[in-house]
Parts: sequence; structure tokens; C-alpha cells
Amino acid sequence: MPSVTGNGQRWPRVIGHRGAALSAPENTLAGFCMAAALHVRCVEFDVRLTRDGRCILLHDDTLDRTTNGHGPAAASSFEEIRRCDAGSWFGPDFAGQRVPSLEETIELLGRLELGAVIELKPAPGAEAATGRAAAALVAERWPASLPPPLLSSFKPAALAAAREAAPQLERALLVGAVPRDWRRQTEELQCAMLHADQRKLDGAIVSAMVEAGLPVFAYTVNLAERAKELFSWGVGAVFSDCPDRVADGLDTQGI
Ligand code: G3P
Ligand code: MG
Repeated sequence: MPSVTGNGQRWPRVIGHRGAALSAPENTLAGFCMAAALHVRCVEFDVRLTRDGRCILLHDDTLDRTTNGHGPAAASSFEEIRRCDAGSWFGPDFAGQRVPSLEETIELLGRLELGAVIELKPAPGAEAATGRAAAALVAERWPASLPPPLLSSFKPAALAAAREAAPQLERALLVGAVPRDWRRQTEELQCAMLHADQRKLDGAIVSAMVEAGLPVFAYTVNLAERAKELFSWGVGAVFSDCPDRVADGLDTQGI
């Protein structure tokens, strides 16, 4: 795989989405090991709270799609969620994977030398609590050997709480389509960048943000040709379910 980090920018061009979601179950420790084995340098994952206030990795509000458990994660204790299998749905090789805690994830990232974009994915009503708990934990445990992490969220209240708990951690505002008032929103939340749905981007809006000094990342990009187009508009990095394939397809000269 060609190097995608030799371009002088702090972030690699391709970030593993939920680990490496096409190669291993999303948001699991096996997924991060897979990403590292695929020579990915940075991963994205989703953090939410259990009923008893623990930070866990899970994309959906409910356990049903990615585990053999049922119902809202926010209604179950950490101990109950740990009994769920988070790998079998993906394939028999991953049977026995657990829903990771944020603590053990950070510890593994340190060992794998993987950077991270940590998405705050609160259940409705838990925006501030999620932002506060995750930011405090990351601030306390993030290994000094790793590049600093980035906290992102679709939820302004989660970002505001994260800023209060750990102002030193960089934040990104996550959006679908770029809102007309992107400048005001990112300034108010003191976000260092904006992450947007790649399907909603065009060259003009990316240029406007980059010219204003606001880096833009795009999700979810699984084709190298599309990644190249986004980079040509000024997008700084893409989140990909197949980061190895996208990075392999990039002509890294000049990007
Ligand atoms: O952080 C980028 C991307 O993960 C946002 O969307 O739904 O995959 O968490 P989603
Ligand atoms: Mg996410």
C-alpha cells in the first residue's frame, strides 16, 4: 500500500471507518487489529453510554444490528452488554468479540500505534453526559505516544460538553449536508474542522471552507476515484470502510 502520510499533513488521507468495517465487525477490538494489519494509521469509532454511565463503542442506539443482544444500549448495564457477542453477526471467525469499553480501546490503540477520530454518538437526551464522560476519559488515558485524538459529533451539545470537560482536545462538527451557517456553528463550538457526508459535497463549498481555514473530512468513501476527486477539491481526509483498498488506489504524488 502506498504511504498516505508522506504529504506533510497531520492526518493520514484515509481513516478506517468504524475500524475497517468491510473486513471485520465494526467498532470491535478485532476491527482495530484488522485496521492495523491493513497498515491503516488512524481509525474512527463511535462512543455512547451504557445505563450505568460507562463509555462503550457502538454505532446504533440499539444492540440488535451488531450484537446478539436486544434493545437500547442506554437501557442496559455495562455488564449486561458485555455478555453480548459483537462478532458473530459479521462472521464465524469473529465469534466472541465483545462490545469494547473506551478504556480498553484506548489501551489497544496505544499498542497498535493507531490514531483516532472518536465520534460522540449519544442516545437522545444523553448528549452532554456522553460528551463529558468520553472527553474526560480520553484526556486522562490517551497515550502520549499517539498523535492527539479528535472528538467529533453531529450533536452540538455533546461537543460543548466535551469542550468544557477537556478543552485541550480538538473537536470536529459532523454534518450531513454542510449547513449555510457552517462558519458560525464551527466558531461557536470552537471546532477545528468539519466532517461532512461526501455525497453532499461539491468543489465550491469545500473551497469556501478550506479558504476560511477550516479543514474538511468526508465520510464514507469506499472508491479511490471518489477520494481523488474529493482531495482535488481540498478535502483533507476520507473515512473508509475499506481503507486499504482506497489507499491502494490513490496516486499519492502531489496529495
Ligand atoms: O465520523 C464519520 C462517520 O462515522 C459519521 O457517520 O453514521 O458512520 O457514524 P456514522
Ligand atoms: Mg461514526
